Amino acid sequence: MSTFGPAFLDELRNRLTLSEVIGRRVKITRAGREFKACCPFHKEKSPSFTINDAKGFFHCFGCGAHGDVIGFTMRQENRSFPEAVEILAGMAGMQVPKSSPEEAKRYEEEKNLYTLIDEAARWFEEQLRIPSGRMALEYAKRRNLSQETIDRFRLGYAPNDAQALIKYLTAKGYKPQQMVDAGVAKKSERDTSKDVGVYSFFRGRLIFPVGDRRGRVVAFGARLLEGDGPKYINSADHGLFHKGQLLYGFSRARAAAADGKPLIITEGYMDVIRLVEAGFMGAVAPLGTALTEEQIQLLWKIVPKPPVRPDLLNHIPILCFDGDNAGSKAAERALERILPHLAPDQSVRFAAMPAGEDPDTLILNKGPAAMQAVLDAAQPLIDFMWQRTAGDRPLNTPEDRAGFRRALDARIGLIKDRALQQDYKNSIQERLQQSFSGNDNRPQQQRFEKRDASKSYGRSFMPVIKPRPLPNNLQERIVLALLINHPALFVEMESALDTLPITDASLEPLRQGVFDFMSESNMEHENPAALREFLEKAGLGQALSRVLSPDLYVHAGFARPERPLSAALAGWHDIWNRHERISAENELKNLSLELKSTGDSAILERIEQLQAMLIHMDEKAEREVVEL
Ligand code: UTP
Ligand code: MN
Repeated sequence: MSTFGPAFLDELRNRLTLSEVIGRRVKITRAGREFKACCPFHKEKSPSFTINDAKGFFHCFGCGAHGDVIGFTMRQENRSFPEAVEILAGMAGMQVPKSSPEEAKRYEEEKNLYTLIDEAARWFEEQLRIPSGRMALEYAKRRNLSQETIDRFRLGYAPNDAQALIKYLTAKGYKPQQMVDAGVAKKSERDTSKDVGVYSFFRGRLIFPVGDRRGRVVAFGARLLEGDGPKYINSADHGLFHKGQLLYGFSRARAAAADGKPLIITEGYMDVIRLVEAGFMGAVAPLGTALTEEQIQLLWKIVPKPPVRPDLLNHIPILCFDGDNAGSKAAERALERILPHLAPDQSVRFAAMPAGEDPDTLILNKGPAAMQAVLDAAQPLIDFMWQRTAGDRPLNTPEDRAGFRRALDARIGLIKDRALQQDYKNSIQERLQQSFSGNDNRPQQQRFEKRDASKSYGRSFMPVIKPRPLPNNLQERIVLALLINHPALFVEMESALDTLPITDASLEPLRQGVFDFMSESNMEHENPAALREFLEKAGLGQALSRVLSPDLYVHAGFARPERPLSAALAGWHDIWNRHERISAENELKNLSLELKSTGDSAILERIEQLQAMLIHMDEKAEREVVEL
């Protein structure tokens, strides 16, 4: 009898990719979600030997050879089962367990554990179908979970009765200790003479069965339906379940990845379900903890390596965090955790949900296309790192910039892969040069892309930040560019234009030119081409190209001519709000000084007025971020 437990063998199979092991011996080629090869076990000219990594099996349609990675090694190397296991364990970097009768017994118990958990899952499912589970079913329906989805994800209901499941499992022949070991029961603290000494861990909750890497149920997540208590509870770790080494939805995602679909790491059970419903089959979520290194490694292992699909970025998993503060923090924590493990062809992308949404609500409210847009806008890791490190720090002085550089260096320093670390250093160096190589050596770029209102999805990572004046003549150039590319905004902007200071005298003729155009009596006031032509004829061509330079759009993507008017307008509101806030702050500062010397009550009144205004602006800014 084999002395390797199922847990050990599972781990072995999971650590190895079948196609990789076979690929060492046989030339293999990809065919859809499988690989093909000429069968190593019988003579043939055209390949009828297929390898399916998701299922972990090879199969020959010619000779019928069939098996898993261990079977392959036994046959190919002509080894016994334990010998094959030993060879593979070596490849996988695993210690072969010593055999003993106790261990054999333990493996048997593990097998029972699987069946126990599956029985429990089936019982939970049943509870959602019977009249006493109506309340839970109604909850599920309220959350737009269709019967089909409930079946597919094997959703269930754990009733309030703490003994119901215990009785059921006892009748099936399971011992209380086994129920505790499987994480579905807890030992009673109180007198245990009345019951069997244990009670059900999940009560009054909607049940989400959690499959292991091969899809067998090993744990449960459970959501509170009503009343007080933690929103979700999850099975504690046990012999078959280590939550830091598994992800919800993993086995489905593995097949999806093999199929070339992107892996999407989201935060919660409901998000995974909604994503899968909407066709994003590569969705996974951690199990009530922050994303672990092991979980990331697990994902890297199951994506087809480029150049399998060089046209797609789908070998780079997308981290998709909720558009709230917690989500933003989680993303940054994940970044720090991932940096050490980056390697060639081994990275992640970062997608930010619109504020206040998670994939569940976004797909429900706006449809799968909105979700796709979020995923499409996912940033490469280097961009995300740059942006998050820049954060809200000022970058006006050499000291500011040196601080920024040091913070970037610290993060890059975490990358263990030497060559990659060097590549990162080079890229960052280039970016730093580009960003700060403006006129007079002053920073060209203060806010990077984060004020780009057209990228509303990317914005939700950004906390509400107090605006600072834009450097140099940047704000003026942005305003002019907005007007020139979107003259339809003139009506909206006109009254404000007089109060926005133009400090760069060389831009004044351009502004005047725009006003002149608008006072012309023709029908073309909203036609950007006509406006340009007018300005060029007025001899302002040079000033025009200075304003509409590509670097401007780095700061103000919303000003691009191809942006929709709504984005341009949002960008304008952003600028205007910032301007108003800054003038209010300046006035406040001056008045406070004045107050000290005069103590005038009119000044005091104005100060209070300004303070109220600023608070109002803060609240408005916060609301806007939430509503984005
Ligand atoms: P969220 O609080 O974001 O919940 O937790 P959610 O996924 O949006 O859930 P719904 O839509 O309100 O039902 C995200 C994940 O964090 C874990 C769970 O895995 C959850 O899916 N979590 C959350 C816990 O483990 N315990 C909790 O109390 C809350
Ligand atoms: Mn949710």
